[in-house]
Order: sequence, then structure tokens, then C-alpha cells
Amino acid sequence: MKISVIGSGYVGSVTAACFAEVGHEVVCVDIDKKKMEQINAGIPPIYEEGLGELLRKYAGKRLIATNDYESAIRETDISFICVGTPSAEDGSIDLSIVRAATASIGAALAKKERYHVVVVKSTVVPETTEKFVLPVLEETSGKIAGKDFGVAMNPEFLREGKAVYDFMHPDKIVIGAIDQKSGDLVSELYRTFECKVTRSNPSTAEMIKYANNSLLATKISFANEIGNICKKLGVDTYEVMEAVGKDSRISPKFLNSGAGFGGSCFPKDVKALIGKAKEIGYSPILLESVIGVNEKQPLLMIEILQRKIGDLKGKKITLLGLAFKNETDDIRESRSIPVIAELLRLGAKVSAYDPMATANMKRIFPTIEYSGKAKDALESADACLVMTEWDEFKQLESEFAAMKGKVVIDGRRVIKAKSIDYEGLCW
Ligand code: UDX
Repeated sequence: MKISVIGSGYVGSVTAACFAEVGHEVVCVDIDKKKMEQINAGIPPIYEEGLGELLRKYAGKRLIATNDYESAIRETDISFICVGTPSAEDGSIDLSIVRAATASIGAALAKKERYHVVVVKSTVVPETTEKFVLPVLEETSGKIAGKDFGVAMNPEFLREGKAVYDFMHPDKIVIGAIDQKSGDLVSELYRTFECKVTRSNPSTAEMIKYANNSLLATKISFANEIGNICKKLGVDTYEVMEAVGKDSRISPKFLNSGAGFGGSCFPKDVKALIGKAKEIGYSPILLESVIGVNEKQPLLMIEILQRKIGDLKGKKITLLGLAFKNETDDIRESRSIPVIAELLRLGAKVSAYDPMATANMKRIFPTIEYSGKAKDALESADACLVMTEWDEFKQLESEFAAMKGKVVIDGRRVIKAKSIDYEGLCW
């Protein structure tokens, strides 16, 4: 089939490359000319495992990139909207990029005779596809949804760093369409996939995505709350959650307690769902608490630190890990951000080491000290806070000898070193 993918960010470029791998013909569309040139040259616009390989394999063949909406829509049967949905100031979702992309698709549809389906893949709150995207399409194309063109919503469940794998091996495929015809056409794209397809209406598909991410975030905040109680009782929360996860109704995944969840999805999606719930007159107590626990959790590390070494003014505190999780340079909503901000507010001298994320964190905190090695960052430190679950931190031992103090507070349960004054965040 012939597909156009609107937006060549993280979701768009992975979707485009993976659909090419499935065997479809794909046109990437983005207003960013440079990105389009990169894709045509087989260079991925973002780093994602396996993406470069796919682009090199299909760029200029089954996959081409352009900034011409009109030809892309004319020459394809289905368009996926894969543009960003950032958070507005109040935590609600900012749909201005979705609107712009939708209006451009609509303008191109106005000039097309054949039936076409527009699919929203961007994460949007329930009702957006039907009450926002669909009317903008009708308005800008002068055509009628359900007759001249179809509309559907097909959320993604891709983990950063594993996005290509996740796309090719999904646990589920969700297609919410306004009518049978639109849904059938989108379903056809996934014909070769082994997993079952859940068919629904667009609002249900949108809600599935939010419920999915909110439940995973809830599991983490729950594990953190249990961890905080366990710590006071002298009970090991990892032993507790390991056993809890053996219940087949629960599953052992996403029950690791620690400094909390970050990234571009969980915090943003939970907040957007809270915003939507409030807008329609419901106060989501549980979801508010999920965010509440997550905001407090990293700061508990500083409370422990103060208990152990007293006033932080003038003390050198080393952070190991800046990325929101391991194997990425992404620092969006990283739990190390509120920790650095609080340490600076308390007058501490902050030094940091991360295998990949230093350059990104420098943009937010340009004045703290960054090192290229854990050992250098730890040199004469009064204490150390471990913020990210990097594998290499498991091997650290002699590096801690460079510290002045011996206190290491582990926010991810990764440290194995013996010769330190170890304290787990919530175990
Ligand atoms: C997540 C979802 O997994 C994915 O399906 C969705 O589409 C986008 O959001 P991602 O943000 O890449 O993916 O990260 P993920 O690997 O899920 O981890 C999220 C955060 O939770 C990280 O900060 C991680 O450190 C934290 N986490 C994860 C925990 O604190 N404990 C856990 O048990 C698991």
C-alpha cells in the first residue's frame, strides 16, 4: 500500500521506516527541508536502534521524503499524522502543530479525487480526532468525512531506544475509526503482523493510549510509595515487589521503585489526561497522586542526603546519571533535573557524569561541573546521588575512592560497590 507519514520526528521516522520494512511504499512529509534531505540520504533524523539500517535500506527506494504535501497526499492512500503534541503551560495538550499538519493535509485533499484515509498517530486526548482533526479536515478540504475521505486513530506504544523493535513486534495494534471502510484500510496495513488488532472508535483508541501509559506510570508510583513505606519498616521493597509481580494478574514489569519516571511520555500523558478529566468535570484523585508521588520521589534523595551529611551549602555533590533512563541521551522530565535545581538552591556545588546525556543537560544547567568519567566527577565529592539505571554504574568500585565523603544514595538500585556508605532511596 502507499502511505504518507506527516512529521519526521521520533514517531514519524520510526513509523515510516518500519512500514517500508513491512513492504509498503512510504512518503515522509515534513516542513523541515534539512530533515527531508537527511532521510533521502538514508540518515536518521534521531538516534534510534535499527532506524539507520532501515533508512539506508529503503531511502530513495520504497521510502522517499518531501516537503510537498500535495504530491504526497495525491500519490498515497493513507496519511499518518505523527507530529508532536507538547504540553501547554497548564499541562494540557497543545494541538497547534496537529492543527497545522491537518490543515495542510486538508488543503491537499481538496485537490484529490480518490478516497483517502487520514490516521492520527500522535498522542492526543480523547475526542481530539473526531471533534478537532475531523472538522479541520472537512473545513480545509471542503469534503465530507465518511464519504470523500476516512478518519482513524492508531496509537503507538513505542519505547525510546526500542522503538523499531516495538513497532515490528507489538503486543497490540489499536485502530479506532469513524467507519468500517477507514478501519478496514488501516487494518490492511498491519495484515502481516501476528498480534491481534483491537478495533474501536477514535475516542476509545485515544483513551486506550492514555489508560495504558497512565497505568504503567501508576505501577511505578505505586512501587515507589510501597518502597517509601518499606524503607521505614526496614523491609526490602524489591523482595516485596518481586513476589507481588509473580501474581499473573499483576506482572513483574514496571514495579522497580526508585527516583521515579521521566521521559517524553509518562509525565506529559498523565498530566494531559488529568487536564482532560477536569475539563469534563471529573477530578482524577488517583492520577493526581501518581504525579504527586513522582514529583516528591527524587527530592527524597536530598532529604536523606541532609540527614546523612547535614547542611549542603558549599558541599560537592556528584550526580551519576542525567538521562531519564539508561541507553538514551534524552533528559526530558529526567528526575535528575529537579534534584540539580534543589541542590543548587541549597547552595551545593554540583558535579555530574552521564555516558550520553551531558550535552543535553548543559543546555539546562550550563554552570554545573560535567566530567567525561565517573571517577573525575566523584573526585573530592562529599556525597554521590545515582539518578539513572546505567549498566556501567554496576561496575563502579575503585572510582568511589576518589570521593572525600563515602555517602552514596542510590536512586535506581544499580550500585554494587562495597567500600562506600550505601543508602538506597527506598529500600
Ligand atoms: C514509555 C512507554 O513504555 C511506551 O510504551 C510509550 O509509548 C512511551 O513512554 P519510554 O518513555 O521510552 O516509554 O520509557 P520507559 O522505558 O517506559 O521508562 C519510563 C520511565 O520509567 C523511565 O524514567 C524509567 O526509569 C522509569 N521506570 C520504569 C521506573 O522508574 N521503574 C520501572 O519499573 C520502569
